[in-house]
Amino acid sequence: MILYQDGIFHLGTEHWSCLLRITAHGLPELIHYGAPVSTEDVQALSCKPGLGWGTSLLLDDKDTTSSPDFLPLAWSGNGRGDYRESSCELECNGIPLATQFRCLSHQIHSGIAPTQALPQALDGIETLEIILEQPENSLLLHLYWTVFPDALTRRTVLENTGEQTVCIHKLMSSCVDLPGRFEMTTLNGGWIAEAHKHVVPVGPTRVANESTTGFSSNRHNPGFLLSEPNATETCGQVYGFNLVYSGNHYSGVQRSLQGLNRVVQGISPNNFSKALNPGESFETPEAVLAWSNEGFGGLSHRMHNFINHHIVPKAWQFKERPVLYNSWEGCMFDFNQHRLLKLAKQAKELGCELFVLDDGWFGTRNDDTSGLGDYNINTKKLPKGLAGLARKIKAMDMEFGLWFEPESVNPESNLYRAHPDWALTDQLPPIMGRHQLLLDLTRPEVRDYIVDNVGSILDSAEISYVKWDMNRHSVALGDKAHEYILGLYDVLRRIFGPRPHVLLESCASGGNRFDLGMMTFSPQVWCSDNTDPVERLDIQEGLSYLYPLSVMGAHVSAAPHAQTLRATPLYTRANVSFFGILGYELDLEHLLPVEKKDIAAQISYYKEHRSIFQFGTFHRLNAEQGTAWQVSQHGMHLVGLFHRLIHAAPGYERLSARALDSRSTYQVTSRPQTLRVGPFGSLLSHVFPVSINPNGMVLRTADRHYAMKDGTQELFASGSALMSGWMLPPHFAGTGYDKDGRMQSDFGSNLFEIREVITREEL
Ligand code: DGJ
Repeated sequence: MILYQDGIFHLGTEHWSCLLRITAHGLPELIHYGAPVSTEDVQALSCKPGLGWGTSLLLDDKDTTSSPDFLPLAWSGNGRGDYRESSCELECNGIPLATQFRCLSHQIHSGIAPTQALPQALDGIETLEIILEQPENSLLLHLYWTVFPDALTRRTVLENTGEQTVCIHKLMSSCVDLPGRFEMTTLNGGWIAEAHKHVVPVGPTRVANESTTGFSSNRHNPGFLLSEPNATETCGQVYGFNLVYSGNHYSGVQRSLQGLNRVVQGISPNNFSKALNPGESFETPEAVLAWSNEGFGGLSHRMHNFINHHIVPKAWQFKERPVLYNSWEGCMFDFNQHRLLKLAKQAKELGCELFVLDDGWFGTRNDDTSGLGDYNINTKKLPKGLAGLARKIKAMDMEFGLWFEPESVNPESNLYRAHPDWALTDQLPPIMGRHQLLLDLTRPEVRDYIVDNVGSILDSAEISYVKWDMNRHSVALGDKAHEYILGLYDVLRRIFGPRPHVLLESCASGGNRFDLGMMTFSPQVWCSDNTDPVERLDIQEGLSYLYPLSVMGAHVSAAPHAQTLRATPLYTRANVSFFGILGYELDLEHLLPVEKKDIAAQISYYKEHRSIFQFGTFHRLNAEQGTAWQVSQHGMHLVGLFHRLIHAAPGYERLSARALDSRSTYQVTSRPQTLRVGPFGSLLSHVFPVSINPNGMVLRTADRHYAMKDGTQELFASGSALMSGWMLPPHFAGTGYDKDGRMQSDFGSNLFEIREVITREEL
């Protein structure tokens, strides 16, 4: 809803409100953003500057309250007395321009106001457009606010109506000034260490969350949170911020002397410049803002709903994603049709629904030094081509998916030899990343080459899934980094627009482009090349603050793990991957019969509960030990509990569920899981009457075919008891084997089903 009454713009839904007005000097004042309020609350909520603060520059010399420096603004000028972070930096004829845009008019549009070339959230309720002007420089500024049930989006368009070129160095998508004290949570990392949560207090020193690699990056995810210092998972005010953009991003947060926290979000101004010629306009990406007073959990639910309803492509909204098998970690480049079909057959027997052929199927791509850019199928590996392979996989009743890395070129490739100038370089000698260069997607002929080649491969075989990879950072500066991203969106639109049936999974060395821009094309994104479940607890939990489980690719891989050398139980690898889009990525050939049995049971369990895992309401629980997650849908709650290191003589352990009806009765059942006997070695002699050689044939054979059952739990309890914490089965304490206890060593885990059996009404 957007109302305009007595000079006040009231935007909002039942969940949030935003109040704006235009000041006497034409500036957009942000009176309130957060809790749902009424238009009559303006007096209570607006800032009271009294007689102002000394040394301020005044827009009206007679009015000591007229300094823009202490007003809460929705757009700030530059060089005109507001010395907090500015929303824009412009230059004309080599001289910085002072800006102080003043309101000219406004319009309320139903639905969204469409962008020209950038992706945006769809199906908004209404959009407020406030047009501001700076007639001295013939500039118009269009500020857009779109109302969604769970979020507010903001973007900006600058229009040059004059006769002189104006250079943009910085143009933010959003600017808000929020009263209060906050902590800022960001998600940072790098390759195989994405989305680790960091928290800093917001104070007078500006904190920047920024990417400069050309992409949204694995270093600093564009999404972040501001929370009241005492906010918990369920209580307190938390704001969430994100950007529908995949390139260099920037967010600056700083608290003023008056206690207003300025938050700006947009394209990173680092090395950015864009010449805006007469008659041209420049649009910024769309910023996303959400608010909750139900703590971090409440904010995550707002963002999850927003993404599931308004960001992911319509054709995939709430559509269950298939369980996939991916060839990468199992085969790397070493495969042929025979090996792939053998793997596909095994994957099918285990229950996988989609077989994905990863890197290595084209050109001379037998390692990562050559072949990128070429699209000729390697017929030594695939004598019947992709069509032949896809046909055989379809005949097994599985879908077929294919890996591409279309944005890059190896200098060792036919494409590079034919078009060395298509590579994106600067005036200095080229620098390599994974032996490759990026293609210059700002050039139409390069985009056409990708669209034609990827498109014809997709049409040449029955391919229903694409993994779109990208494995190097950019060197593009000026406006080229942004133009590159526009080129990428153009390519994705042209390839996947006409092929909505193709499920696109975006990947960039794992989670190097985990952003809302990519998600408008790609309903699932590969979180990280790190599939160690213990590492994934941090990565997936970090992402969960801002992104729903429905977009998180999560695979079970081999142990010991390729990046950490950590050995983890197969059930824990599955339990972690269940909280996302389940896949398997390991060599199936040498799995033990007991492991195959377990995997088949895992996949069948996941399929049965897939809708809850992918689209249920997600909760980060407060575990007494380790990490605990819950997903809930229609009276069914699935709770995962994950431990790290085990300590001797463990005490009692309770687990508290969330969001149950306190008076209903629930049945709690732990999912049965098995323990390999091999790792118990000589300890087995304590439970078996005969002595066992820990390195002998008997134990090795037993380990292949026989697994012990871990203790399970089944009980009935009220929602109230389960939310206050139910007692879990005892841990092994070195005092003997207890068939009902948890015989788990390091990195053990459990999955509990909590099913409502008697509702409050039935009591
Ligand atoms: C990087 C990706 O993140 C991996 O999953 C895999 O697809 C490799 N590229 C293939 O080269």
